[in-house]
Amino acid sequence: QYISLRDPGWEVIETRPDRSYLGKFESIFAQGNGYLGLRCTTEESKAGETRGLYAAGCFDRAPGEVTELVNLPDMTRITLLADGQELLDAAPGEDYERRLDLRSGTVIRSLTFSPETPEETGRQPLRIKVISESFVSLNRRHLICRRLRITPSSDITLTVRSGIDGSVTNSGTQHLLPGVKRLIDGKLLRYTTVTAESGIGIAAICAHECSHEAALSYPVTAKRGIFSVSSYRIKAQDTLTLVKYAVLYTANAPDSLLVCGDSGRNDGDSALETLAEKELRSAMHSGFRTLVQENRKTWDTYYQTCTDKVRFIGDSASAGDSVPPKGDIFDALAVHFAQYHLRIMTPFGDSSAGVGAKGLSGEGYRGHSFWDTEMFIFPYFLANFPDTARNLLEYRYHLLDAAREKARDHGYRGAMFPWECARPCDGDVTPAAAGTDIVTGSEMRCLTGELELHITADIAYAVDQYRRASNDIGFMESFGYELILDTALFWVSRCEYVPSKDRYEINDVIGPDEYKEHVDNNAYTNYMAHYNMVLALDLIRRPEAMSEKARRRLDVRYDFDAFAGELEDRIRRLYLPRPNAEGIIPQNDSYLSLGYLDLTPYKNTGRPGSIMEQYNNEQLSHRMVSKQADTVMLLYLFPDLFDEETVRRNFLFYEERTLHDSSLSLCIHSIVASRLGRKEDALRLFRQAAAIDLGGNPHSSDEGIHAAAMGGLWLAARELK
Ligand code: IFM
Repeated sequence: QYISLRDPGWEVIETRPDRSYLGKFESIFAQGNGYLGLRCTTEESKAGETRGLYAAGCFDRAPGEVTELVNLPDMTRITLLADGQELLDAAPGEDYERRLDLRSGTVIRSLTFSPETPEETGRQPLRIKVISESFVSLNRRHLICRRLRITPSSDITLTVRSGIDGSVTNSGTQHLLPGVKRLIDGKLLRYTTVTAESGIGIAAICAHECSHEAALSYPVTAKRGIFSVSSYRIKAQDTLTLVKYAVLYTANAPDSLLVCGDSGRNDGDSALETLAEKELRSAMHSGFRTLVQENRKTWDTYYQTCTDKVRFIGDSASAGDSVPPKGDIFDALAVHFAQYHLRIMTPFGDSSAGVGAKGLSGEGYRGHSFWDTEMFIFPYFLANFPDTARNLLEYRYHLLDAAREKARDHGYRGAMFPWECARPCDGDVTPAAAGTDIVTGSEMRCLTGELELHITADIAYAVDQYRRASNDIGFMESFGYELILDTALFWVSRCEYVPSKDRYEINDVIGPDEYKEHVDNNAYTNYMAHYNMVLALDLIRRPEAMSEKARRRLDVRYDFDAFAGELEDRIRRLYLPRPNAEGIIPQNDSYLSLGYLDLTPYKNTGRPGSIMEQYNNEQLSHRMVSKQADTVMLLYLFPDLFDEETVRRNFLFYEERTLHDSSLSLCIHSIVASRLGRKEDALRLFRQAAAIDLGGNPHSSDEGIHAAAMGGLWLAARELK
């Protein structure tokens, strides 16, 4: 239903306004540039909306809560009143369309409002056509632009209220202190504020340009905001054009720091304000049309730079050509949609911030980063934008001290990476509670921070991928060697020697399948830890694996001889689960002895999570049910570890028992199906993965798009060919 034939594979369309899809379109039509992320809310405010503007790395922590991505001042709400009546809803049955052009990151909305016309006036019902066009600039990363074209069917007085609203919250939590308001030169509106706990200065500034002379115009200040109110006379069928330029700077962004230095906890930081004002004036000087062209060009370059291209039939068709089957267009659309979101969620040229599980498109998972980055998002950048891939790993390096501290706190050595992270200085930000148990009604403890350990090896795996692809010795010397060595050291200390079996085990963990807590010897975790330790041993033992300079510097920290001895011991004796008599690799020690549960009723509802309405964690932990790719993830990462027959058996066995109750699952299953030559399965699973955000479930993306699934879609599409 979202497919446009006008530009097949490049436009996502909303063909009618439907309130139940409000949150979904806010997320899937989100715009940004890797620094700013803007939810696609409409100019007029709507009940149930979540207006959201976020900046990479701008986190704050409210008392008693975990650090979260701050919702920044809203500059996109524009209230329109025709002869005093607020324009709120599209006229029923009238032309309506909202589309996201993936080629340029522009959202174009076209609709007609029909304010009430009292009968006694004897006038024809008033119709007001509004076309809005908006984008977050890809080349000017602090800039948001919006142009409205408003055409009434009869003469009206149009009143426009627009400005900066600093009263925004994250679901009620107010992270921004009351700010300082200024009107500059009678037309620039500026609002400066600061985050309450993290003390990040924020400068927001905007201005309007209009084709018509205002009959009346005045500024209005509120406790937390500044606005302008302007009235215009518009004749019937005449078009008023209004452009709003908005700029936002956060003091901790690298380019702000470069100019302003560490602005500390000051609000009203004048250097930051000057920077924002300069940027705004420059944008206004260029004008809307030039900004559109610049933005479009930067997007073109982005898509062209994706050297590792994935092509579908839908890619080459234009509207006039014989139109390819809808399925093909959908596949192409899904890949472009993924590439679009991957770009707007990922900081470019900046290693101080990570990628959130919802990118910058919503507040789900509070903006935190997970293993999603290394295993799902990183490969896309490694293949296409290696500098950005490097930045993602550098971001992890900034967390290394926190990871060392976490290991120490838990009685281990090396680095135990946080399961969830935000700003490097926050360390582990995994929340303590995981919602309500549907059976007992009590609060469930979130154990992932303590037990989901594989992230530590996932990071080392990604470092190794980067090293192989780039041969970037400078990176390895500054960051990479330490990341591999410290993560391996963690596993050395975490492996547990079991004398009765004369082997090491890794017990009491959560693997990728988060339905299973406190499991022993999760195959994925054990193999990844093993791989991590092999990488470290190779660095130490093979002279050409590590530069002499790095070896000398790091020898002091690690005592290489002793470390190598420990690594050899663990590598030799760590238990790696092997296929049983039926060829099945046990997901963990107990999985294969659990009771079977038919998942058909849940799998086909489009709401796999509905299983949690009938079973609680405890009950699911006793069933042979996986939340997501776990052993199949292992098969995906190490295709040569097992013979093809074993891969086939395990794919079939685990797919039947996997609910895909995580957006990280379907794409991985699709890849393994492709490799097995199961083309139909692969395509079906790929399309299901695309439907997580692009499908009919109105609420699947309310809290933001699924960042990992975007990377996963691209990975899966590559293998579909
Ligand atoms: O990292 C994932 C995890 O694997 C499943 N739950 C959601 C997390 C964030 O996407």
